[in-house]
Amino acid sequence: MPRQLFVTTALPYANAGFHIGHMMEYIQADIWVRHQRMAGNVVHFVCADDAHGAPIMIAAEKAEKTPQQFVADIAAGRKQYLDGFHIGFDNWHSTDGVENHELAQAIYRDLRSAGLIKTKTIEQFFDPQKQMFLPDRFIKGECPKCAAKEQYGDNCEVCGAVYAPTDLKDPYSALSGVTPVLRNSEHYFFQLSDPRCLAFLEQWTQEEGHLQTEVYNKIKEWLTPNEDGVRDLGDWDISRDAPYFGIEIPDAPGKYFYVWLDAPIGYLASLKNYLGKIGVDYDAFMADPATEQYHFIGKDIITFHTLFWPAMLHFSGRKTPNAIFVHGFLTVNAEKMSKSRGTGLNPLKYLELGMNPEWLRYYIAAKLNARNEDIDFNPEDFMQRVNSDLVGKFINIASRAAGFLSKRFGGQLGAISPDGAGLLDIVRAKNEELQQCYETREYGRALREIMLLADRVNEYVDQNKPWELAKKEGMEARLHDVCSVCIESFRLLALYLKPVLPTLAAQVEAFLNIPAMDWSAAAQPLGLGHAIGDYQHLMQRVDIKQLEALFEAPAQSAAPTVGAGASSLPQATHSGVATEHEQVGPKLPGGEAFAPTISIDDFAKIDLRIAKIVQCAKVEGSTKLLQLTLDVGEGVDDQGIAITRNVFSGIASSYQPEQLIGQLTVLVANLAPRKMKFGISQGMVLAASAANEKAQPGIYILNPGPGAQPGMRVR
Ligand code: MSP
Ligand code: ZN
Repeated sequence: MPRQLFVTTALPYANAGFHIGHMMEYIQADIWVRHQRMAGNVVHFVCADDAHGAPIMIAAEKAEKTPQQFVADIAAGRKQYLDGFHIGFDNWHSTDGVENHELAQAIYRDLRSAGLIKTKTIEQFFDPQKQMFLPDRFIKGECPKCAAKEQYGDNCEVCGAVYAPTDLKDPYSALSGVTPVLRNSEHYFFQLSDPRCLAFLEQWTQEEGHLQTEVYNKIKEWLTPNEDGVRDLGDWDISRDAPYFGIEIPDAPGKYFYVWLDAPIGYLASLKNYLGKIGVDYDAFMADPATEQYHFIGKDIITFHTLFWPAMLHFSGRKTPNAIFVHGFLTVNAEKMSKSRGTGLNPLKYLELGMNPEWLRYYIAAKLNARNEDIDFNPEDFMQRVNSDLVGKFINIASRAAGFLSKRFGGQLGAISPDGAGLLDIVRAKNEELQQCYETREYGRALREIMLLADRVNEYVDQNKPWELAKKEGMEARLHDVCSVCIESFRLLALYLKPVLPTLAAQVEAFLNIPAMDWSAAAQPLGLGHAIGDYQHLMQRVDIKQLEALFEAPAQSAAPTVGAGASSLPQATHSGVATEHEQVGPKLPGGEAFAPTISIDDFAKIDLRIAKIVQCAKVEGSTKLLQLTLDVGEGVDDQGIAITRNVFSGIASSYQPEQLIGQLTVLVANLAPRKMKFGISQGMVLAASAANEKAQPGIYILNPGPGAQPGMRVR
C-alpha cells in the first residue's frame, strides 16, 4: 500500500528573498519528498509565505505599500529560487489566504470550546505617536542591570539579562523615538499550563518517532517541573491589538491573532488550497487515518512546532504531526546568516553565475544527517566534493564507456560476463540500504556509500582498461562486455543519486533511452541489445573563478583600501628596519619611521567611525583573532534587528572577549570586506602596537573620549 504523505517546510517570513539557509531547508525536504515518490508513495509537498505580524506591517509602511501588496511582491520573487534549485513544491500559498483566515478562526473556536482560551489584562508599552502597542523588539532603552544603552525590550545584548520591556530605564519607541506610555489591554491566552495540555505534551513529545532525541532533550525542560513544582511552559499570549496585519479573533473586535498562532495553520491552509485545485476533499484527506504529516524546520523554531502546534491541533480535535524533522543551521565560511545582510553566498547570484544548482544540492546533501546539527558551506570543500566525487568518480564512468559503445557497437549493449555481473550485483545490492538512508534523512551516509560504489566501478574500469582493449585485436567482445557493465553501473548510480540530482537523472534517462526511474528500476537492468543514445557531457566541474565571483563583495565596496592587512591588525611593515635602528641613532617612534606625507583628501578617504563592541568571542582554530560584533549606529533592519558588523581582529593575545564587550572603539568603516578563513570581516578596528611586537608585546585598542556615540565620524 502506498503511503499518503503531507509534507511541509517552515513558512518563510514574507519580508525578503531567500538566503542560503532557506535553500538548505528546501533541499533537505525536497530530497526526502523525491525519495518518497520514487518509493511509490503519494506526497503533497506544500509551503507558503508567512505574511503576518508587526515587522512585516512596519516594513510595508516603510516601503509605502499596503501589507498585502508588500507580501505579494515578495511572493512574486519566490519562483526563481525554487525553480532554480529544483525544489518541487506542489503549492505555494500565503498565510493571508482565505483558507488560513477560516482555519485559524475555526481552530481558535475549537480551542475555546475545549475551555483552553482565557483572557487577562496586561500592561504594555504603547507608542502615542504611532498609536500602537509596541512589540518588545521595537522598544529600546537602558539595561536595568548593567545600564548599557540602546538595548531591546526583551534582553540585553551586553550583559545578557532577560527582562520585560517595562524594566528598561528611559525607554523609547524604536519606531518614532518617543517615550512610550503604559496602557492596559486585554489579551487572549492559550492555556498550555492546563493539566490536560501538559499531560498530552508529555506523552506526545516522548512518543516514538515524533521528535529526534536531541530535540526532545531540548524541549523537555519546558515540561519538567522545577523544585518548586513550576514549569517553564506557561500560558501563551496569542492576541495582538490593532493595528496589526493578521487575522481577526472571532468575537473580539480590534484583536488579532499573534502571527505565530496563524503561521503553522498556514501549513493546513496551503494544503487545503492545493487539494482544492486538484479536486481532493481536504476534510476527508485529513480525517483519513492513513494520512501522515511531516514538517521540516530549523532549530530556532522548535518550541512552536513541538509544543504549541501539536497542542493546538490535538485540542482542536485535529490530526497531530507524525514527526517534526529539525535541522541545524547552515553557516557560510563559519559565518552566521544575518537577517539583514544574509551571507556572502547569495542563491540568486549563484544561479546567475551559471553555477549548477545540483552542485549545491549534492554538497548540502553530502553534509546533512538526521540530527539537529549545524553544517558549514566551505568553498574549497564544495569544489573538492563536486569535482573529485561527483564529476570525477560518477560522471566519469559514463564518459569512459559511452564513446566505445556508440562508435563500435551501434550504441547497443552487449553480453555481460560473470565478473561484470558480480560487480553489478554488488551495486544493485545497496538499493535497500540507500533507500533506508534517504528515508531516515541520512543523506551524507547515502552519498558516501554511493561514492564507494563508484570507486569499485572505477577500479573495474582501471583493471579492464577499455581504451587498451579497443586497440587490441580479438578483444571486441570483452570491450563490449566491459562498456556494458559500465553503463549499467552508471544507470544504477544515477538512480541512487536521483533524489539529490533530479535533473541529472533525467538527462541520464534520456541518454539511456529509458523511462523515468523509480526505486523499482534497480531490478530492471538494461537488456542485451538495448540501444543507448549519444553521450553528451553531463556535468561540468566547478571553476574556481565562479567561486571567486560568487563571494566577491558587491560593487559598493570598491572604496579605497588601506593595505592588505585589512581586517586584522595592520602588519608591522618596517620591523626589520626598525630593529636595526633601535640600538643606535635617533629614536624611532613606536619602533618605526613615520609614513610619507599625505593630503587631507587622502585622509578623508578613510571613513573612521565610533563603534560599540556589542559582542566579542574567541575564534575557534585561531589564537590570534577575536570576533567582534560592532554597532556602528546603522540602526535596525526591517525586522527591528540591530544592524551590526562582523570584524575579525588580531588582538586575542592582549584581550579576553569579556573585557571588550560594551566598549567603544574606532572602526575603519569603508574598508573593502575581506573573506577570511573564519568568515567575512567587514572593516578593521584601530589598535596600537609597537613595530616589533616580539620585542615589545602588547596591543591596545583605541577608545574615544566620553560622550562619543556609535556611528560618529572620526576626522
Ligand atoms: N516564519 C517563521 C516560520 C513559520 S513556520 C509556521 C520563520 N521564518 S524564517 O524565514 O525566519 O525561517 C524559515 C526557515 O528557515 C526556518 O525553519 C529556519 O529555521 C530556517 N533557517 C533560517 N536560517 C537558517 C540557516 N542559517 N540555516 C538553515 N536553516 C535556516 O522562522
Ligand atoms: Zn545589560
